[in-house]
Amino acid sequence: MKTADVVVLGGGLIGLAVAAEAATRGASVLLVGEARVGEASPAGAGMLAPGAESEELPSDAVRRFAIAGRDLYPSFLAALRDETGVAVPFDRSGILELTTDGKPAHCPVGSEWIDARALRELEPGLAEFSGAMMTPNDGSVDNVVLFIAMKRRAEGRRAITLVSAGVRSVNVTAARPRVILEDGDVLEGGSLVIAAGAWAAQLGGLPRPLPVRPVRGQLLMVDGALTNHVIYGGGGYLVPRRFPGESDRFEGTVVGATMEEVGFDNDTTPEGRAQLEGIAHRIAPAARSAPVLSHWAGLRPITPDRLPILGRDPEIPQLLYACGHGRNGILLAPITGEAIGALAVGAPSAYDVSPFAIERFAESR
Ligand code: GLY
Repeated sequence: MKTADVVVLGGGLIGLAVAAEAATRGASVLLVGEARVGEASPAGAGMLAPGAESEELPSDAVRRFAIAGRDLYPSFLAALRDETGVAVPFDRSGILELTTDGKPAHCPVGSEWIDARALRELEPGLAEFSGAMMTPNDGSVDNVVLFIAMKRRAEGRRAITLVSAGVRSVNVTAARPRVILEDGDVLEGGSLVIAAGAWAAQLGGLPRPLPVRPVRGQLLMVDGALTNHVIYGGGGYLVPRRFPGESDRFEGTVVGATMEEVGFDNDTTPEGRAQLEGIAHRIAPAARSAPVLSHWAGLRPITPDRLPILGRDPEIPQLLYACGHGRNGILLAPITGEAIGALAVGAPSAYDVSPFAIERFAESR
């Protein structure tokens, strides 16, 4: 049996962020994760879009949390670079939401209207649009590089032990929760954090059902940076993977994304590719001649209200949830790490996670 102050189930960005925070606070951590086909962390487009994805954020408290999460990124990435030497590409030059019928009656707080002429100057490669809403400070992070850097940090921390194994079940009835691995080994911690992404609901032994299901998103990478900013429009989005000052860097554009209820099927489909090509062509005509470099899919962990499940179990306080991040897992990884990493070691969270409590789901009570 292995023991630690904190056991974290899930080796994606959320689990890595929680483990790092708990370790920074002096805890020993067992981080249990195995590479999963379809895991969302490296598959996403890396948008940091609390403004542009505001339909996913239904209340002021939730929006405040998402914006705080976005605004943690500069210091989070600086600390990651100091520790690992990896400079994760990061863009916070604003996101443009294209409109086809002029200025919307209601503009999201903090956003700025860009008319058609100003839009052409900012983004000469776009098709004809009537303007765009600009949400300043939104942007993107290269989540593939981020994932590599966060794994490297965990490997380098003496306080974190990585356990690459499948989990058979958990036992949370004793004062110290236990995890039973598929190979029969047992892990025991002072607290247990569930950060298992789309697979969270499959864990045996939890005290209540976790209403988290996979929703497939297919994406394309096309050659060349088609735009200067992250763009929402045409039924999807474009995310340029090109960052100021890094001219020798590969340039491409991520095109996203489908939303498909197909369980754990992580295949790509011709229909998905056609939908994504349509989005790219509607936004940027040059996409018609841009070769498609890759086509992949990932499984978003989605809850019925599309908000994450964060915080302590109401009956088993040593059990914590950090799952169900839906379309915003990359955005919310640093703030989830800070909040749940603190709670896992018995410290208060600097961020209010009460809007995300498991108790909001009637079937979970
Ligand atoms: N955050 C965008 C998506 O999930 O497609």
